[in-house]
Amino acid sequence: MEKMNDFISLHDITKEQMEDLLKLALKLKSETKAGIAHPILKGKTLGMIFTKSSTRTRVSFEVGMVQLGGYPLFLSSNDIQLGRGETIYDTAKVLERFLDGIMIRTYAHKDVLDLAKYADIPVINALTDLLHPCQVLADLQTVYEHKGKLEGLKFAYIGDGNNMAHSIMYGCAKAGLDCAIAAPEDYQCDENVVYNAKEDFKKGGSRLLLTQDPAEAIKDADVVYTDTWVSMGMEEEKEERQRVFMPYQVNKELFLLAKPDAIFMHCLPAYRGFEVTEDVIDGPNSVIFDEAENRLHAQKAVMAALMG
Ligand code: CP
Ligand code: NVA
Repeated sequence: MEKMNDFISLHDITKEQMEDLLKLALKLKSETKAGIAHPILKGKTLGMIFTKSSTRTRVSFEVGMVQLGGYPLFLSSNDIQLGRGETIYDTAKVLERFLDGIMIRTYAHKDVLDLAKYADIPVINALTDLLHPCQVLADLQTVYEHKGKLEGLKFAYIGDGNNMAHSIMYGCAKAGLDCAIAAPEDYQCDENVVYNAKEDFKKGGSRLLLTQDPAEAIKDADVVYTDTWVSMGMEEEKEERQRVFMPYQVNKELFLLAKPDAIFMHCLPAYRGFEVTEDVIDGPNSVIFDEAENRLHAQKAVMAALMG
């Protein structure tokens, strides 16, 4: 695989790197299921900095690191000096003396970019306010497993123009899926991300549709995706958001506009009765738990590629 220094945005990696990561994720998954060990990271340590909550990301990185023969070190911002104002620069220069890689989940995307700039070891973005690339790599693996291909499919995302929407655009452009995003007027995607994504779609040859109309976005989709309306750090806007986003709820009526064999996806955590109804998320077309499981396999591929 062509060398990657960090894993921060799907915009930064090549189409070939994306394909190689997905192939490796599928291989590691089948080996794990067959009981075949792959101690690719024996003796290596990954530091995992969290300044936000997590279930899937924390558990999948920790378990993944153990399965690769390495050691995962959980670093909550409540416990490390970064949380008390130590600089990103000093943190990076110190951690690179102990660790073989750093995974970070935090608010400001710039903090991850700075950490990667200063640390001479690989840095993995495990979610910022701007992007969530690890999730989308696992999502594409899941789509591939269920559809047998990626190129030519239509991926519809309905909801907030947030970190998930951004990484989905980058991921679809690189993997050759058409992508439609429906978000309310005041909750559209970040302008810079849209600019970059449009360039990626032009290069890759698939199409991007940005609309405020959920019915237009979901029409004939192969994949239907939504995310919480209230991302971490936005709790104060909860009531206003629940009001504005209600017409964007993925319910049975809306879901029926997608292809009959469309799959439903959600990065989780989900809030039933808000962004999605029970009949859809717990219905026969939902693949949410395969998707959650694939966080493990996709991230093992990322760690193996960066630190192996
Ligand atoms: N989807 C996801 O990243 O879940 P967690 O917030 O539980 O890590
Ligand atoms: N958009 C959500 C994703 C959670 C995995 C958030 O940032 O909270």
